[in-house]
Amino acid sequence: MKRVILLLLAIPYCLSDFLYPDFNHTQGLAFNGNATSSICGKQPPLPNQSTIQFINGYETKVDITRDMDGQSQSISKDLLSAFGHRDAYGISSNSKCVRRLRLTPSLHSQVGSVFYERRVSVLKGFDTTFTFQMGLDQSKVCTQRIDPITMEEQYKSCSVHGGDGFAFVIHADERGFDAIGKDGQQLGYGGIRNSLAIEFDSWGNVELQGSDDLYQDHIALHSASTAANSANASTMLGYWKPTELADGKRHRARVQYLSYIEEKYFHQFSGNENLVPYLKDNGEGRRVGTLAVFIDEGVQNSKPLIAIPLNLSVLLDLPQSLAYVGFTASTGERFQTHDILDWHWCDNVDCQGDQDEIARTERGFD
Ligand SMILES: *[C@@H]1O[C@H](CO)[C@@H](O)[C@H](O)[C@H]1NC(C)=O
Ligand SMILES: *[C@@H]1O[C@H](CO)[C@@H](O)[C@H](O)[C@H]1NC(C)=O
Ligand SMILES: *[C@@H]1O[C@H](CO)[C@@H](O)[C@H](O)[C@H]1NC(C)=O
Ligand SMILES: *[C@@H]1O[C@H](CO)[C@@H](O)[C@H](O)[C@H]1NC(C)=O
Ligand SMILES: *[C@@H]1O[C@H](CO)[C@@H](O)[C@H](O)[C@H]1NC(C)=O
Repeated sequence: MKRVILLLLAIPYCLSDFLYPDFNHTQGLAFNGNATSSICGKQPPLPNQSTIQFINGYETKVDITRDMDGQSQSISKDLLSAFGHRDAYGISSNSKCVRRLRLTPSLHSQVGSVFYERRVSVLKGFDTTFTFQMGLDQSKVCTQRIDPITMEEQYKSCSVHGGDGFAFVIHADERGFDAIGKDGQQLGYGGIRNSLAIEFDSWGNVELQGSDDLYQDHIALHSASTAANSANASTMLGYWKPTELADGKRHRARVQYLSYIEEKYFHQFSGNENLVPYLKDNGEGRRVGTLAVFIDEGVQNSKPLIAIPLNLSVLLDLPQSLAYVGFTASTGERFQTHDILDWHWCDNVDCQGDQDEIARTERGFD
């Protein structure tokens, strides 16, 4: 039975509207790499990742485990002193189970992508909303120094903080709906050509050269135009914005592209020099559109977290003005789940009414 509900609206260009109220049925979607559809909590077994490393010249035992029972949330702050620890986070539960897209399970070095199999119209404007939940069963790293003389285990410190994040991706890569990028800090979109990624990043790769990252969870836009995309500073359009993402709660996000400058969003507009080549059209050199990203309360209030002026048709080379749309995610040494719970796509310019058709999702760990 087909569960992709085509909304019948009396407005043209709405032919590829689709709605997945959950992912009980996944017809029309292509799954790549480690992406699956899954019910809630079940995680594959975690291989032993206990190693002895030399840190500042000291022999140190480093254990990477999964915090499945949330125990670390109740143990002492001294033990959880390591930098980057999250104070509050979610663990898998089987109650209120919604069958979801699981872009990656909670395992190291995973990468997954899910794309809608048919190309959709994007240049005339689109509006898409989805609910995501990431950061269940996050990796916990405990380090324990070993005394060089007595070989006794000295103090221990731990931190719970998963990686790496996911992205909503629009692309015309030659691999089509099978496109998939690299793992780790590349969030599954680094390597996808001719793409625009709206990343929901939960791991700061601040140590990497050329990284745009920060330690907090954040949203940012990345594109290398028709070249292979990459999650680094040279591809960032506008500026990142910090916002809580991988706390294990459900969050609602909306991405909107309008084929004109939306004055209502002026206060949220940002830009950087990477954006300059895409702020014109190839002919008259003046028309631009607006790309806006909303999250949680911002979705309800129609107040974007990020808005940039952009001509998508100059940024990407889209045959017949059509593109593939979907999600990518990855993990690295640190890991967590990356789930999409529902997804609505509308490529009509006036989609606002349809947004109400999706039941409002409560924030919560379930
Ligand atoms: C999906 O399955 C769940 C559990 O079987 C059910 O509660 C839910 O109503 C289903 N969703 C739809 C849209 O039928
Ligand atoms: C993830 O994908 C890699 C590469 O395709 C594969 O080797 C590995 O077994 C997958 N892991 C899981 C848990 O499916
Ligand atoms: C995990 O690996 C460590 C270090 O190699 C080893 O000491 C330990 O016995 C292993 N544990 C299990 C359960 O295999
Ligand atoms: C960033 O990504 C671009 C595009 O893939 C690449 O050309 C460049 O070398 C990268 N820069 C750094 C510092 O990694
Ligand atoms: C972007 O540029 C193209 C071609 O140069 C132009 O036809 C189009 O109207 C522009 N798009 C917007 C949203 O202004």
